[in-house]
Amino acid sequence: MSNLFVDRSLEEVQFWGCIMKEHALFLRLGFTVDQSKLIQEASHFHTLFESIEERAASFTDNAEREHIVRLNMETYQATSHLWAFKRKVLELILSCKIITNNYPLFVDHASREAAYFMNRLEQLNKGILEPLPDAVINENVFFLRLMSDHAKFISHLLDPSERNLITEAADFSYQLDQLLFQAVDLEAMRPASQTSQVLRRLIEESRLMVQSLHDFKRTIKEMIEECRLRSVIHPLLADHMLREAHRFLDLLDRFEASLTAGPND
Ligand SMILES: [Fe+2]
Ligand SMILES: [Fe+2]
Repeated sequence: MSNLFVDRSLEEVQFWGCIMKEHALFLRLGFTVDQSKLIQEASHFHTLFESIEERAASFTDNAEREHIVRLNMETYQATSHLWAFKRKVLELILSCKIITNNYPLFVDHASREAAYFMNRLEQLNKGILEPLPDAVINENVFFLRLMSDHAKFISHLLDPSERNLITEAADFSYQLDQLLFQAVDLEAMRPASQTSQVLRRLIEESRLMVQSLHDFKRTIKEMIEECRLRSVIHPLLADHMLREAHRFLDLLDRFEASLTAGPND
């Protein structure tokens, strides 16, 4: 039990800690040269999450529970500060006080991921280690929205001359939005919609869709690496979005396993 807590905590901190570090980098790269104060703040977060990631990597499976509880708490604090920074940047953008090269939706998206991570850390320290069947619909709503945003980012960061790929990305965005709203409908139909049949179908449909988005993202990433793509997509951003799709697929597997372990209908 204690080991599972350590395992899950280290896994979450390493995955999302790295994601937070990269968000700090993307924010920093998006600021213009005169925005030195914001660049400094973003750099500070980059260093902070780099050290969190290193700290998490230094623990083993037999680490003391209290040490991991503390790691989770400190990571929570750091993430809450990064969340506040992202919201501040979003406010500066929307009130036209600054111009950055990051879309407002990107900044909002990154802050949603920070809030999700904070929630996960809180759950872990409360002893909630595995996704609850209750959470299947919520998590699908959350992740499908992220995936749909990614499709939009890709479509808007491609060079206008990449006509076919832009259409393909926009099509993913449309289909993911449809699936997202289907999950939102199921959210409204709770608790009646929480039968294992309904949840299984949701998991299956999400998996099919996200698997093909994942493959599309991999193609984009490879094209960038081979210098075959015209875009302003940072290579690390392409990889970042691919890893997040992978994370969602892993989570869908866990949900499916939890439904098989204990049907809740
Ligand atoms: Fe992200
Ligand atoms: Fe994302």
